[in-house]
Amino acid sequence: MNQEYEQEDPLSSDEEEAEATRRDAGDAESSRASRSWWDRNADEYQSEHGSFLGDDRFVWGPEGLDEAEAGLLGPAEELKGLDVLEIGAGAAQCSRWLAARGARPVALDLSHRQLQHALRIGGEVPLVEADAGALPFRDGAFDLACSAYGAVPFVADPVRVFREVRRVLRPGGRWVFSVTHPIRWAFPDEPGPEGLSVAASYFDRTPYVEQDEAGRAVYVEHHRTLGDRVRDVVAGGFRLVDLVEPEWPAWNGQEWGGWSPLRGNLIPGTAIFVCERED
Ligand SMILES: C[S@@+](CC[C@H](N)C(=O)[O-])C[C@H]1O[C@@H](n2cnc3c(N)ncnc32)[C@H](O)[C@@H]1O
Repeated sequence: MNQEYEQEDPLSSDEEEAEATRRDAGDAESSRASRSWWDRNADEYQSEHGSFLGDDRFVWGPEGLDEAEAGLLGPAEELKGLDVLEIGAGAAQCSRWLAARGARPVALDLSHRQLQHALRIGGEVPLVEADAGALPFRDGAFDLACSAYGAVPFVADPVRVFREVRRVLRPGGRWVFSVTHPIRWAFPDEPGPEGLSVAASYFDRTPYVEQDEAGRAVYVEHHRTLGDRVRDVVAGGFRLVDLVEPEWPAWNGQEWGGWSPLRGNLIPGTAIFVCERED
């Protein structure tokens, strides 16, 4: 990934009106939809959330939990010299934070446009354009892997991703990832009071799909219950060390889509899985 960032987006952000539905979507369709959606929406995502994320901070989700205080990857002073893979890195903000602590991060993302934003921000982090389900690295190349809302919520087969992460980690390596808290799937994705009443079954795993007039998926998110996620982690060859549900902090008055102070004070919005490779 070494193309220069260009101000002009070659892809139009004027999308046809997409229809939101719940229906099955497999791995290939989900991956295709994610790549084109993030290419089309990376500019808006970075302009809307870039200042909250910071160019070189490591923020786990809309609550604003910062790795500098959470220490989920291990003590910051022990990151020095570690090979770290960031999956679904977007503009590589977390990787820049890791590099500043002396780690050797590699930022991987499916979306070319997200990685162009990484180039725009700058820094020395190597960027790789690839799908999390087929990591282009040799076995045991990394000490640590992490992901802040990258890839995992969008893939049909998370176990495939976890097995790939396990393969590229060294024995005992940590894999820490955040996703939308599964309980949110029972509620409308609205930041206001309408987002506080259960409207769907928590147990319905049918993916959320936005599709165009021809029925092609243009955006896909996959729901796994909390138990599913634990079983997926174990099936992927990991031990679950911790499950963190960040509380909404008093300082954060910002809404991010369906995440808001109102809802954040009542129900969890993010789940962070801290895992270690079983040997
Ligand atoms: C919500 S953004 C998070 C980006 C970044 N981690 C952050 O905190 O801003 C999700 C990212 O995951 C990437 N992504 C989605 N599906 C992916 C896949 N199958 N493989 C790799 N990256 C993927 C998207 O391109 C997007 O950049």
